[in-house]
Amino acid sequence: MNPPVAYIRDLLKHVGQSVTLRGWVYSKRSSGKVKFLNVRDGTGIVQLVFVKGQIPDQTFEDFEKLTQETSVILTGKVKEEKRAKGGVELDAESMKILQIAVDYPIGPKEHGPDFLLSNRHLWLRSVRPHAILRIRDRFVKAVRDFFDQDGFTLIDTPIFTPAACEGTTTLFETEYFDQKAYLSQSGQLYSEATCMAFGKVYCFGPTFRAEKSKTRRHLTEFWMIEPEVAFNDLNDNMVLAERFLEYTVQRTLEECKEEFKTLERDTTKLQNVKAPFPRVSYDEAIAILKKKGLNCEWGTDFGAPEETAVSEDFDRPIFIHRFPAKIKAFYMKADPERPELALGCDCIAPEGYGEIIGGGQREESYETLVQRIKEHNLPEEAFDWFLDLRKYGSVPHAGFGLGLERTISWLCGLEHLREAAAFPRMMYRLKP
Ligand code: 4AD
Ligand code: MG
Repeated sequence: MNPPVAYIRDLLKHVGQSVTLRGWVYSKRSSGKVKFLNVRDGTGIVQLVFVKGQIPDQTFEDFEKLTQETSVILTGKVKEEKRAKGGVELDAESMKILQIAVDYPIGPKEHGPDFLLSNRHLWLRSVRPHAILRIRDRFVKAVRDFFDQDGFTLIDTPIFTPAACEGTTTLFETEYFDQKAYLSQSGQLYSEATCMAFGKVYCFGPTFRAEKSKTRRHLTEFWMIEPEVAFNDLNDNMVLAERFLEYTVQRTLEECKEEFKTLERDTTKLQNVKAPFPRVSYDEAIAILKKKGLNCEWGTDFGAPEETAVSEDFDRPIFIHRFPAKIKAFYMKADPERPELALGCDCIAPEGYGEIIGGGQREESYETLVQRIKEHNLPEEAFDWFLDLRKYGSVPHAGFGLGLERTISWLCGLEHLREAAAFPRMMYRLKP
């Protein structure tokens, strides 16, 4: 009978026992009568020692057939090994080879990003993508726990939609029987409906933008976390966003120490992600940019260089709020004190990572919203249901959207946010 199956991350609990491991060959080396095999099983990597004479001769010989990513079932006795990463090592006892991998394309040598992206389905087995996607998983768990503990209800919003939320220039159009449909750019409009039914809601799903730009910060498909709260104003919205980021970032740092170490990410700056975050008005941001010698006129939208220049003097994320209304979406409420401004707020991550959150207070007046839809040349009939929300018990409300890949890219210190998605979608990449 085979010893019990164990996962590598649990091996410390099995010191002194024989276990069965199921996984893939990561690397190997030999020195005469002793051979060393590193095996990974998705939860970690561990070394097994093959000693001639202590295992069947056939097993010792089979070692020679092992290639990187060959699938194996091994048994071995777990012993403590302080110098090893997981604190253990195994004395191999038996081995069954499931399938020998021939010419696995990804080796320890340097590969170009294009090659790795084309082999993303295999690249995911390497240590670095593994660490990044574990961090993403733990971050998402923290997001869900934050909203659960805060009394939010998760209500997912549709992906096929009849109209634009974030402007018509980045819409993906698709056939929908005898009509046209668009892939959702944001769940916000639907969350505005669900918050009137449930009070505090969030949606979390994939969103789509036909971004023709080839930047380090744009995907065509990305995941967004979007809370929406009835009776919140702009200030409440910023307070929610900073509490949310503090909780999720600090918990991820706490839970993913090993993964951040693997990425060689210096996390000291992330320790500062604590509320309150500095609030900088758009007017103040323009003044900062002018002082720094950037040529930026009032009324223009900020790109990456402007966001970096405004945020670089702060030690944590900042909010930029109250933008010129004409550069923002149709649904934003105008500042009653200065109607040329929209009550929007973006959260800018430090270290040059730029905007990770966009949001603000929504226009709640029926007449004003109809006006806005016209000004933005949007098809009024597609928004009739949305306008109903302003007819039947309209209230102030606010919300925001956090881009998941942008956030993970910042937390992990990535060059390009494509590494924050398992299978990133960009203008020139639909495969694998
Ligand atoms: O600022 P955005 O466009 O805001 C909205 O969509 C609002 N409707 C959200 C809301 O209030 N509920 O997008 C929100 C965030 C950005 O701050 C950014 O982090 C991310 O979504 N994002 C992208 N991430 C990756 N690739 C892209 N092409 C992105 N576009 C936006
Ligand atoms: Mg934005």
